[in-house]
Amino acid sequence: MNSDFVCPKVDAAISGKESWQAPSNIALVKYWGKYGEQLPKNSSLSFTLNKSTTTTTVAYKPNDSKGTSVGFRFLFEGQERVDFHPKLEAFFTRILPYQPFLSSLELHISSSNSFPHSSGIASSASAYAALAAALVAIEKSIAPERSNLYWLQKTSFLARLGSGSAARSIEGPMMIWGSHPQLKESSNDFAVKHAAIAPLFQDFQDCILLVDKGQKAVSSSLGHGLMQGHPFAAARFEQAQQNTQQLASVLAEGDLEAFIRIVESEALTLHAMMQTSNPYFVLMRPNTLHIIEAIWAFRRETKTPVCFTLDAGANVHVLYPKEAAAKVLPWIKERLLDYCQAGAYLLDSVGEGVKKM
Ligand code: PMV
Repeated sequence: MNSDFVCPKVDAAISGKESWQAPSNIALVKYWGKYGEQLPKNSSLSFTLNKSTTTTTVAYKPNDSKGTSVGFRFLFEGQERVDFHPKLEAFFTRILPYQPFLSSLELHISSSNSFPHSSGIASSASAYAALAAALVAIEKSIAPERSNLYWLQKTSFLARLGSGSAARSIEGPMMIWGSHPQLKESSNDFAVKHAAIAPLFQDFQDCILLVDKGQKAVSSSLGHGLMQGHPFAAARFEQAQQNTQQLASVLAEGDLEAFIRIVESEALTLHAMMQTSNPYFVLMRPNTLHIIEAIWAFRRETKTPVCFTLDAGANVHVLYPKEAAAKVLPWIKERLLDYCQAGAYLLDSVGEGVKKM
């Protein structure tokens, strides 16, 4: 329990509405393995995305029943979705000690995504970041004055209690989550902005190739659990710590070659961890590998600084500087879309985090 983020209980009979938008993010150094209440076993570093977002509106009014839990309704894309209730109830149980005023409110939550449903894009990061931003905005209206930094950290802290990676969706363009002895201000409790970034990385592009639009074959919670007792876990956590520190410097220096080396190695290591856990999983599909090989060949032949990262699934994030887009995009369209399910892809780039709507 982190007492810094506990809001005093106020029985304010308040009502109103908050609408917030939050982006998804893609980890360059991966978080895979957790302990305690959604705390990471290693630090991670991510790009905040721009167009892949969730928008959430929370309408609130006094709850007459004065229960000890949080009363809510939840709509996704305009439809009442009780199947989301167990996850949301678990989230509210976790955050209630930090926002006790929620038990005297009734919430009407409605949420929608900018990216198509079942596109294989994990929406938990943007979803919990948007919800946390709305809840913090409600708290702001009743709580004592605090600094802007405090509110950003609290938003990240609450989002983390929904989904670890959501902690990194609050600001941009790049975020570090997880404490690291060499990175000042870094914390396991919330993500912090990585401020020193060379101009080249400030408008980096991410073309997400949708190889498999299905549900995740391995849920994040199952995946994180597989790192417990994993024979290579300790070495992996240590390696991730080193990669976070190195990548933080590489981003400041604008060293593209080192960037590519670290980012691709991180993606393959995440998948290697899954392939060597018990039980084991292969989350790449044959087309994932075709795309990776095509990227390597294109990079070798044209010297274009394009590389890839992967999430816990088959889709490929193709990463490149904006100035290379005129060369990379036509190549993606001509050579890579055949490997995508129904030719589907999403064009995104580095973004700035949550915003009030
Ligand atoms: O936030 P979670 O619990 O869904 O975990 C995310 C894990 C990865 O997406 C695979 C890596 C990461 O750091 O985002």
